[in-house]
Amino acid sequence: MFASLALPSVDETLWPAGEDDSEDRGREDPVAISFDERPDAASSPSRSAVSTLSASVGAYQNDIESVLITHEQIQGKIEELGQRISEDYAGRDLLLVGVLKGAFVMMADLSRHVRLPLEFDFMAVSSYGAATHTSGVVRILKDLDHEIHGRDVLLVEDIIDSGLTLSYLMKNLRTRKPSSLEVCALLQKTGVQQVPLDIKYRAFEIPPVFVVGYGLDYGERFRNLPFVGTLRPEVYRDAVS
Ligand code: IMP
Ligand code: MG
Repeated sequence: MFASLALPSVDETLWPAGEDDSEDRGREDPVAISFDERPDAASSPSRSAVSTLSASVGAYQNDIESVLITHEQIQGKIEELGQRISEDYAGRDLLLVGVLKGAFVMMADLSRHVRLPLEFDFMAVSSYGAATHTSGVVRILKDLDHEIHGRDVLLVEDIIDSGLTLSYLMKNLRTRKPSSLEVCALLQKTGVQQVPLDIKYRAFEIPPVFVVGYGLDYGERFRNLPFVGTLRPEVYRDAVS
C-alpha cells in the first residue's frame, strides 16, 4: 500500500506565493551607481564590514578597497531582470549564451529567475589577461555548441567597458541568423564605450573604474566575491612590478 503524499504544486515549490510581483517590477531604469552615491560612501568601507558579507571574502579582504554594489543590490536587480525576461520571452524558445568566464555567476543566478524552459550555451573570448585596460583584440577561444539559426538568443555578458568585445560578438552572432539577438549585461561603464551598443537588459551602470567580484576577475582571482568592488592600488602595483 502506498501512502499518498501531499506534494506541493510546482509553483508553490519553485516560486512561492507572494514572490510574483512582476507587475510592479522590472520596468524601471537600471540603477546608476557613482562612488558618491554608493551605500557605504560616507566612510571608507572597513575591513570588518567587508568581511561579514561572506566567507569567500575573507580570502581577499586585504585586497579589497571598497564595495561598489552589494550582494543584496545585485540579487534584487537580477530577480527583476529575470522577471522581465520571463515576460518578454513567454512562449518562445530562449537560448542563453554566456560569455566566459565572467558571466558564469550572473548566468547561474539570472537563469533561476527566468520562469521559462531554457537552453544554455557558452562562448569564451580572450580578455585582458592580467592587465586592467582593454586591448581591443578579441579572439574566440571557445565557440557555441549549438546552431543559433532561427533561435531567440540572449547574450549574457559581465561588463561592458570599451564595448569592443560585445560589438565583435554581436556582429559574429548576427551572421548566424538568429531570429532575435539581445544582450543582458551586469555592468556597463559610463562614458567609455567606443562603439554604439543597444543593451536591452542592464543591471547597473558604474563609473569607469576597474572592478572585481560576482564573476569579474583580476588575474583570474576575485570571481567568487559575492559583491562588485574595487581593489586596493597595492594589488595592481604588486602585479606590475
Ligand atoms: P570591453 O571589450 O572593453 O568592453 O571589455 C569587456 C571585457 O573586458 C569584459 O567582458 C571583461 O572580461 C573585461 N573587463 C572590462 N572591464 C573590467 C573590469 O572592470 N573588471 C574586470 N574585467 C573587466
Ligand atoms: Mg567577459
